Amino acid sequence: MEDRQQWGTRAGFILAAIGSAVGLGNIWRFPAVAYENGGGAFFIPYLFALLTAGIPLLILEFTLGHKFRGSAPLTFARLNKKAEWIGWWQLGVSFVISTYYAVIIAWAMSYSIFAFKQSWGTDTESFLFGDYLKMSVDPGQMGSIVPNVFLPLVLVWVVVLVILVKGVKKGIEAANRIFIPLLLFLFTIIVIRAITLPGAATGLNAFFQPNWDKIMDGSVWVAAYGQIFFSLSIGFAIMITYASYLPKKGDITNNAFITGFANSSFELLAGIGVFSILGFMATQQGVGVDEVVAGGVGLAFVVFPSIINELPALNGLFGLLFFASLVLAGLTSLMSIIETYVAGIQEKFKVKRTTAVIIGGGLSAVISLLYATQGGLMFLDVVDAFINNYGVALAGLVEVVAIAWFVKNLKDLKNHANELSDIRLGSWWNICLRFVTPVVLGFMMFKSVMKDITVPYGDYPIEFLLKFGWGVAAVVIILGFVFTIKKWDVAKLEGYNKGVSK
Ligand code: ALA
Repeated sequence: MEDRQQWGTRAGFILAAIGSAVGLGNIWRFPAVAYENGGGAFFIPYLFALLTAGIPLLILEFTLGHKFRGSAPLTFARLNKKAEWIGWWQLGVSFVISTYYAVIIAWAMSYSIFAFKQSWGTDTESFLFGDYLKMSVDPGQMGSIVPNVFLPLVLVWVVVLVILVKGVKKGIEAANRIFIPLLLFLFTIIVIRAITLPGAATGLNAFFQPNWDKIMDGSVWVAAYGQIFFSLSIGFAIMITYASYLPKKGDITNNAFITGFANSSFELLAGIGVFSILGFMATQQGVGVDEVVAGGVGLAFVVFPSIINELPALNGLFGLLFFASLVLAGLTSLMSIIETYVAGIQEKFKVKRTTAVIIGGGLSAVISLLYATQGGLMFLDVVDAFINNYGVALAGLVEVVAIAWFVKNLKDLKNHANELSDIRLGSWWNICLRFVTPVVLGFMMFKSVMKDITVPYGDYPIEFLLKFGWGVAAVVIILGFVFTIKKWDVAKLEGYNKGVSK
C-alpha cells in the first residue's frame, strides 16, 4: 500500500493551515460582523469563542488527523465505526462550500482587472448587479450563464485542480509558500495606505467603540461562534485532513496556537484596514460610518469600488492589491476545502489522487456553474447562509458532543497531543470541549433555528429557502449516512498503527 503523503516541513504545514484559515471570511466577513455586533464589545464574545471553542477544537482536529492519519471519514471510522458519517457529513459541507467559494474568487479576479481603469464607473451597485452579474431573474430562476463570471471561474478551477493534482507537498505546500507571504505583503501595503487616509481615525473609532448593550444579546455570541468556526476552517473536515499529513513526530498543540493566533491577527488587520477605508469614505461624503458599512458582497464589490474611485492617487494599484489579496486568500482556502473530499474519495474508493481530483473537483466545478448564472447570487446567498449554520457550526457541535460524550476518549486524545507537543494541555481543554462548547453552541443552534423558522432568511420565498437552504443542509447529512454503506477494507481500519499507511 502506498505511503501516506506528508508535508515537507513544519513551516510548510503551518503555512498551509494558515492559508486555509485566512480566507474570504477574514477580509470581507469579519469587519462587518464585528461592527454589526457591537464593535469593540464584539471582541469579548469573539475572544471567548476563540479560546473556549476555536483553539480547543483546532487542537482536537489536529490531534484526530495526526493520530488516525486519514481523511475525515476514515479518521472518524478509526475513532469509532459509528462515527464515520460525521466525517462524510463534514466532507459534504466542504463540497457544498467549494461550489460557491470558487465563484466569489472568480468575481474577485474580474474585479482585479476592472480595478485598473475603475471600469465599474460611478454607480458601483448597478454595475455589480446589472452590468457584471446580469441579475434580472426571480429567486430560484437561473436564466443563462453569465460569460463574465464563467471565464474567470474556469481559470479558478484550472489553477486549484492543477495544484491539487501535484499533491500535498509539491502542490498545496509549494503554492502556500508563495501565496501566503505574498498575501501578507500586499495586505500590509493596503493597511498602511488605509490608516494614512484622511478620516481613517473616524472609521477606527467606529470599529473599536464598544457598544456594551450588545454584549447581553445572545445573537452577538451566535455571530462570534459562527465567525470563529468558518474562519478557522473547523467543523468541515479541513484541519483533520491537513493534520493527517503531519509526520509522526509533528507538534500539535503549539501548531494549533500559532494557526489560531495568526488567523485572528490577520482578521484584526483586515478589520483595521477595512474600517480605516470606510472612515475615509464616510468623511468624504460627510455621513456617519454606519451609513457606508456593509458586509459580504456589498462590502467588497460595491463599497470598495466606490472608495477606490475616490482615492486621491494610485486608485488602480490600490484596487488591484485589494482584489488580488481576496484572490490569494480565497485560493489557499479553496484548495484546503477541496482536499477534504479528494482525500475521502481516494481512500474509500481506492482510486489514484488524480482520479479523485478529477471526479470530486470536476463535479464541484460543474455544480458551481449554477452560481455563474443570472440568478447565481441568490442561490449563493441562501446556500452560504444555511450551510454555515446547519453545516459548519452544527457539524462542529456534533463532533464535539460525539467525542466528549459518546466515544468518551478526550483523555486518550489529550495524551496523544501532550506526548508530541511543546505546550501541554491541561484540564481547561476538557472543560471547554465537554461543557462550555456544547452548552454555548447548543444554545446558539437553538436560537438560530428558531429565528430561521419564524423569520424567512433574507425575505426570500419559502419554497426557495426550503429547497436551497434547509434542503441542501439536510441532503448533506443524509449523504453522510449513505456513504457509510460501502465498507472500508478491514486493513484500513485496523492496520494503520502498525505502519500499513504511514
Ligand atoms: N477559513 C476560510 C475562510 O475564512 C474558509 O474563508
